[in-house]
Amino acid sequence: MCGIFGYIGKKDPVKTAIDGLKRLEYRGYDSAGIAGVKDGKILFCKEVGKVAQLEKEVEKQQFSLDIAIAHTRWATHGEPTVPNAHPHVDMMGSLAVVHNGIIENYSEIKEALSAEGVRFSSETDTEVVAHLIAKNYKGDIIAAVQESVKRLKGAYALAIVHRDFPDRIIAVAHESPMVIGVGGQEAFVSSDPNAFAAFTKKVVFLSKSEIAVVEREKLAVYNVELQKISKEETELEISATDISKGHFEHYTLKEIFEQPVTVANAMSGRFSTDLGTALLNGIEDHLPNLGSTSRILILACGTSWHAGYVASYFFEEMAQIPVEVEISSEFRYKNPIVAPNTLVVAISQSGETADTIAAVRELKAKGARLLSICNVQGSTLARESDHTLFLNAGPEVGVCSTKAFTSQIVVLFLLSLFLARRRHMSRDEGKRVLAALTSLPDAIKSILNKSGEIERLAKKYAKFENFFFLGRQYMYPTALEGALKLKEISYINANGYPAGEMKHGPIALISPDCPTVALLGNKKTFDKMLSNLMEVRARKGEVIAITEEGFVKEISKITQDFIEVPQTIDELSPVLSTVVTQLFAYFVAKERGCDIDKPRNLAKSVTVE
Ligand code: M6R
Repeated sequence: MCGIFGYIGKKDPVKTAIDGLKRLEYRGYDSAGIAGVKDGKILFCKEVGKVAQLEKEVEKQQFSLDIAIAHTRWATHGEPTVPNAHPHVDMMGSLAVVHNGIIENYSEIKEALSAEGVRFSSETDTEVVAHLIAKNYKGDIIAAVQESVKRLKGAYALAIVHRDFPDRIIAVAHESPMVIGVGGQEAFVSSDPNAFAAFTKKVVFLSKSEIAVVEREKLAVYNVELQKISKEETELEISATDISKGHFEHYTLKEIFEQPVTVANAMSGRFSTDLGTALLNGIEDHLPNLGSTSRILILACGTSWHAGYVASYFFEEMAQIPVEVEISSEFRYKNPIVAPNTLVVAISQSGETADTIAAVRELKAKGARLLSICNVQGSTLARESDHTLFLNAGPEVGVCSTKAFTSQIVVLFLLSLFLARRRHMSRDEGKRVLAALTSLPDAIKSILNKSGEIERLAKKYAKFENFFFLGRQYMYPTALEGALKLKEISYINANGYPAGEMKHGPIALISPDCPTVALLGNKKTFDKMLSNLMEVRARKGEVIAITEEGFVKEISKITQDFIEVPQTIDELSPVLSTVVTQLFAYFVAKERGCDIDKPRNLAKSVTVE
């Protein structure tokens, strides 16, 4: 993971780099650091914790640089300490390096360098790069970087500054993202173009160990054989977005409350009520024969995987297409068989999840067609896909994914409707499901109006250390998602489980100390869920029910702690029930005093395997 930012230009390099890092903090926030050249010397400043800590320190020291590289870290090798924070420098203090990725053969290189007398001051894999470049440096920094990169195995994006070259940053990328922003009399280096989009949208992406020499008004890119190559400049269609919290205490809460709008944005312009179908304009230009898709393979991680899991039910139910949903990190080690007419659907809010990208690269190499569902324009996944359906949800800053999940379901639902209407679904049926879809924003608003009720329940249950989240059919992946939210932001052990499986073992854990969040929003399995909840109650387990309006009589037999959501079709019930579980997790985490927007050990974008 980790975020890299670099700047050369007329602006204050330290301030510009710190501002850039703030936009990259979603990639990790264990420590942060900045280095650069000043009066022919390499200077650096590093702090444990978030970028705000580093900002305070540079202000205190009146730290100043002529050019800067900076880094926000998600620890892989070594704890979050100052010595392990990037940038890393060589023994003579002649150069500094920041890195995103993992150097897989670092121990072998470290051993060899140690035998030659190099002393290491951190436990990181990155430090070997600094010493390796210093060892290979004979006056030509590009040659030294090339020589060093040839020895590296793994994934890396690197930015390097050397005291002998106070006017350039050397950037390298292999399997980790690195983008150079050009134009005007300045240049940027970043893991994500959104970090400098306010200044330029003209970019050059690096890959395959390409080495870029970045100067104020000049960019030269070399392949790993050091042949100069011409790289296409891309004009990105991204805008510099506002990432303020508004009047909300946390980004997570703001993003939960944005959902009436983000869900509306996800569907906007993408359906025709008259025709009872989805309009995914232009999709067939990029994915010809979409209509003859005979198998769908969904790949994703975390919350995006849960959205894919929900969608697998409606692709089969509505479009009657067989679906497989795979966790990318598992799938990539299979030897996939890509049958003809398979549509690969990769889902990723960030578009930077390393496992998903690796899995789809393997599939593309095998000739598969790739459709991605993404939130971030210009992301690696979007650039590598045959076509992308964007969520249009705006930046999701909170590490726990909320609005992206509900938007993903909406977009996947529209895709399913599109395929279903090409096959057997009637116009009237299409109109019926569209009516349910278009009523979601108002339904979400009515749930948000109950946040006080949900907060009261959250306060009552915040003391428990173990939870079950149970559901059936559409409510099973919804239960997984509810449990994930609770564990990641409140650090409570929460198990999402298919309710029918409880009696095959996990019911042994039910006790007065382990409450169950019961997701009853699936009409088809409502009665079966009630029976399972009776079994929980018989073992003195507390139940918090999330149910559709109109079932109070049945629910009251089980619990008085319930939240009602508006009625919808089963396919879309995960959207509404999830808004409740998001608020529940939020208020529990708040009650427990957790760092909600930046939970411990996590990063928003998981860019290492
Ligand atoms: O950016 P992606 O959607 O590919 O990210 C996938 C997961 O890392 C992400 O959903 C993660 O599980 C979130 N922290 C969940 O809230």
